[in-house]
Amino acid sequence: MSDLPVKSDVVGQHLLSISDLTIDALIEHLEVAEAFCEVERRSVRKVPTLKGKVVASLFFEESTRTRLSFETAAKRLSADVLSLAVASSSVKKGESLRDTVETIEAMGIDAVVIRHSSAGAPHQVARWMDRARVLNAGDGWHAHPTQALIDLFTVRQAIAAQEGRTSEGTGVSLLEGRRVLIIGDIRHSRVARSQIDAYVLAGADVSICAPGTLLPTGPADWPVTVVEDLDAALAEADIVSVLRMQEERGSGSFVPSLAEFTATYGMTDRRAALLRGDALITHPGPMVRGVEISSMVADDDRCLVRRQVSNGVPVRMAALFLALSTPEEGIRG
Ligand code: CP
Repeated sequence: MSDLPVKSDVVGQHLLSISDLTIDALIEHLEVAEAFCEVERRSVRKVPTLKGKVVASLFFEESTRTRLSFETAAKRLSADVLSLAVASSSVKKGESLRDTVETIEAMGIDAVVIRHSSAGAPHQVARWMDRARVLNAGDGWHAHPTQALIDLFTVRQAIAAQEGRTSEGTGVSLLEGRRVLIIGDIRHSRVARSQIDAYVLAGADVSICAPGTLLPTGPADWPVTVVEDLDAALAEADIVSVLRMQEERGSGSFVPSLAEFTATYGMTDRRAALLRGDALITHPGPMVRGVEISSMVADDDRCLVRRQVSNGVPVRMAALFLALSTPEEGIRG
């Protein structure tokens, strides 16, 4: 990998929400992630880019993909990683979020990767930090910016492959004008909110479809079309984003039964057959097979879920690198 200069107005910022990003910043994240994919293919998958930096991983809510891929990404960049086990930390003795993060910053960390059940917690933490950069790993129903970056990166890569080329250097041109359909529990979904911001910024045309109880309040204020005929919308879609029914947020009580939700809004085998042959399906994971997506669809070649997980590492390498670098540093390979 050759040295890659980065744009000065994109680096050194917290990553809290896609809505904070300019189109240049969005593209920079995609292109830097592309450069880091090369590291993934090496026998020694490590670069010295963030040597000497310390990244703290603070997950106040459960996670498999986001936590492990952020920590792997930091290690691939040669950063040191502090992982707070919240369940056995002084949070359990009543230490506040502010005291917890200020204590960790006092140890000389450079970045905080935080997931929290309260919307806005990463923004508040960013206000308390003197010098550390904050990366939002998911806050309540509000935002999951790196998941949206992964989804766009993966879709861009898949469309490029369909066209027999690589996505490197394509910016958002492969996403412009694409019809994106987001289905399922949109009300409780931080992924949907970040996807909508990201796809709209990239020039895609976004529709949402859900039972009335699982639509967000005030969808008319969102830059999306609310569709009622799911089958017709699937036949038109280029990209379908299937969302998880979030049992931990009580999604099941917003529908008559999970079986009825599956029959009316699930990505079943019958509905997958309505899709065009080149349509793409994403799911942020974890999937609840048999509820929002059938096992056959989850394992279909058009379903990008495993590629989304693999791309989590280079995309989060890009996010950490851009948050912690200065323009003159570039990527050193
Ligand atoms: N997509 C996602 O955020 O997964 P985890 O909850 O496993 O991190």
